[in-house]
Amino acid sequence: MFKSIRQHLYFLKWYAQVRLLGRRRPLQTVLFVGDACNLRCKHCSVVPKEGTPCRKKDYETIAQELRRCYALGSRFVDFEGGEPFLWKDGQRDINDLFDLAREIGFFSTTVTTNAQIPFEPCRSDLVWISLDGVGAYHDKIRGEGAFARLEKNIALSSHPCLNANMVVNPLNVDAVEDTVRFVADHPKLKMLSVNFHTPFPGTEDLELDWDTRCRVIDRLIALRKKGAPLMNTASGLRRMKDMRFKKRCWVTNFVMVDGAFCPQCLGSEFGLCERCGFGMASEMAGLWNLHPETILAGLKVRM
Ligand SMILES: C[S@@+](CC[C@H](N)C(=O)[O-])C[C@H]1O[C@@H](n2cnc3c(N)ncnc32)[C@H](O)[C@@H]1O
Repeated sequence: MFKSIRQHLYFLKWYAQVRLLGRRRPLQTVLFVGDACNLRCKHCSVVPKEGTPCRKKDYETIAQELRRCYALGSRFVDFEGGEPFLWKDGQRDINDLFDLAREIGFFSTTVTTNAQIPFEPCRSDLVWISLDGVGAYHDKIRGEGAFARLEKNIALSSHPCLNANMVVNPLNVDAVEDTVRFVADHPKLKMLSVNFHTPFPGTEDLELDWDTRCRVIDRLIALRKKGAPLMNTASGLRRMKDMRFKKRCWVTNFVMVDGAFCPQCLGSEFGLCERCGFGMASEMAGLWNLHPETILAGLKVRM
């Protein structure tokens, strides 16, 4: 109860600082723990090409990075990779990083996983499971057998807050509705966040044409109205149809695999903001304008 009041007060203070005083302070951090992965997904630009060595940060480096982000103002952290559940440093594993983040003072932790290995026990507050379609659609992007392993490992998990994250591209665009239904019917998955492929260098061929993207968005808004468990808000989805809103992506800072601190998503450096597919970018715009639907959705996920 007190914790929750403290967290809400912090949010009000942060909002006053950024909105009224014009300061740019991150509220959320995406921290890459390394780039080793057990999959080679077609749309991924993070994992190194065959033959290039993988990188892994040690515990102390991550501790310093977390403290620096906290000092900047961040209070939510998402651990990313590579595959975060492969991360180890001596006796420590990814769970020690979730504990560390909370010890430092972060309000909550999330982790994004491909669910190819069992991820239980998992002490992160929330788990994002990357789900790029049902069955063969998922495997077309993530490799044969990936969907079966994901299903098995979700079944083995007793985590109370499992959510799915889909990235739509031409290979799985026909699977969007089935994926929404899959999550709605799944006894363990709570919500689905739908994103579109962002064409980072080397993955441009997986960008969806804009008309198709708008059609998918209209369909998602209709499904949402009927009660589909979509994390994206209707207003957030609508904004993704033209991307003409003012971007506030500095609300999330990034700590990259090489330790670089980026004040916002690398998409801006590549000039991709107008073609961005990350649902979070448009949800940030809603949060900035205190759109009640966005605040409610954010609270539901984070608190
Ligand atoms: C890079 S992966 C790393 C975590 C983990 N290995 C996994 O597969 O979930 C993190 C998330 O980014 C998404 N992603 C990768 N490339 C993307 C792109 N170009 N546009 C949008 N999302 C992307 C993935 O689908 C995944 O949900």
